[in-house]
Amino acid sequence: MLQEYVNTAESAARAGGEILMTMQNAVEARSKGRNDLVTEADLASQQAIRDILLGRYPDHGFVGEESEGAIAELNRSLGDPDRRDSFRWIVDPLDGTTNYIHGMPHYCVSIGLEQSGELLVGVVFDPVSGECFRAVRGGGAELDGKPLAVSGCRQVNEALVAFGFAPDVRPGAPEVAQFLAIMHACRSIRRMGSAALNLCYIAAGRMDAYVAGCAKAWDVAAGALIVREAGGYITGIDGGGFDLRFPHFICAATPLLHGHLLAILAQVE
Ligand code: IPD
Ligand code: CA
Ligand code: CA
Repeated sequence: MLQEYVNTAESAARAGGEILMTMQNAVEARSKGRNDLVTEADLASQQAIRDILLGRYPDHGFVGEESEGAIAELNRSLGDPDRRDSFRWIVDPLDGTTNYIHGMPHYCVSIGLEQSGELLVGVVFDPVSGECFRAVRGGGAELDGKPLAVSGCRQVNEALVAFGFAPDVRPGAPEVAQFLAIMHACRSIRRMGSAALNLCYIAAGRMDAYVAGCAKAWDVAAGALIVREAGGYITGIDGGGFDLRFPHFICAATPLLHGHLLAILAQVE
């Protein structure tokens, strides 16, 4: 059944991606919050994805970033013991909206399937490159049908690391000091504008780690499964369990690299 779910998720992600490509030069951005943008393309992509997923599985839950009250619904449904057995699709119809608006060719559609707090299926589709990253719980991760594996990097000074800030980060915030400490220790840092693709790039061995001081469940539901299934290691930012309701995390290709990054963060005041 998980294979059927992942195939349906891929169809939905491709449908969303096609809409993003078609609308790219014809949309205006509006602001949802400070440096937090949305376009008609985000909404149209989400509608197409929702129609496909719920058309096929009408009794499943659906939480999309652009749904009214999405965060409250997610937290309620993930924490509600009466609803713990039902399936929930967790969808970002356009991850990398700022890139999209600026014409930067680095954005994607992200679709995860969760049940009882466990991620079962993940698909991240990049409509610009055409790359489709997929994973099924316990079944490994793949890119366009080829198995994915993390890099095996164990040293911070050899690591290419992604770092995520909240859009409203202030000078003097702890994340700024963490960012500088990691930048100083690692080979180089990247801030590419798509949390879902960051995770997939670690899964593909292109980057080695990602420290995310700010993310939402729909940014990472699919990517967290993909990176784990590719052999990566992901925890909360304090080293505790990775929690979809509070997805501030450290992801690394190896536990050793993860431990080094955790130790660097612990030293920052
Ligand atoms: C954003 C991107 C970005 C991350 C932000 C997200 P959006 O998602 O994933 O890389 O740093 O935290 O909100 O708004 O483009 O869907
Ligand atoms: Ca996002
Ligand atoms: Ca989004």
